[in-house]
Amino acid sequence: MQKIHVSNHPLIQHKLTKLRDINTNPKKFRELIKEISALLAYEATSDLLITPVSVTSPMGSAKGFELNEKIGLVPILRAGLGMVEGIWEMMPTAEVWHIGIYRDEKTLKPIEYYNKLPIEPSVGLCLILDPMLATGGSASATVCVLKKWGVKRIKYLGIIGAPEGISCLSNDHPDIDIHLAAVDDRLNDIGYIVPGLGDAGDRQFGTG
Ligand code: PRP
Ligand code: URA
Repeated sequence: MQKIHVSNHPLIQHKLTKLRDINTNPKKFRELIKEISALLAYEATSDLLITPVSVTSPMGSAKGFELNEKIGLVPILRAGLGMVEGIWEMMPTAEVWHIGIYRDEKTLKPIEYYNKLPIEPSVGLCLILDPMLATGGSASATVCVLKKWGVKRIKYLGIIGAPEGISCLSNDHPDIDIHLAAVDDRLNDIGYIVPGLGDAGDRQFGTG
């Protein structure tokens, strides 16, 4: 059954509040995105498959576990890029596959412009990374790309979701777990999340 998890972890909520702040500069904004993403990924990966192994410590033999799933991190360009680093530090063997999608400003429909996935999927579990789930069009299109690629297990990790985006993604893909730090009130008439944090790409990269 689909899981829609909205974190109430105090560290995430504290950092999210600073992330929203209009006075947070791009350097601090990037640090916060990195930290929140690592915390969200920690929560989202609690069901990773592991295999029992034995390990020898200086004091003797112990039972342990090793990860049994090949993980792909899939940031949606541009804003998802900032979510990679903190998660990658925790799982350095993950592969990173970039998908380029932007929203048409008028229609708000997703336009794919970059995809270099190989023909065969090389990972078992993909974590889609994008801070903003607004209409849900970009996230839903990315899931379609990954399903077509043949990925069996996909989770979406975002920071702020609008009710409209959550409905779109869960209706289009009821098999995808959704992990967020907050669900906000609504979208405004140009498709921005309110209260949100503004434009996540511009605030990271100092553009706009
Ligand atoms: C933003 C955001 C998501 C998308 C969300 O990207 O990073 O990818 O909008 O909106 P949706 O849920 O309505 O599809 P944007 O199109 O601004 O591109 P950018 O990351 O290159 O700035
Ligand atoms: N993309 C953003 O960066 N911010 C929003 O509020 C919506 C889409």
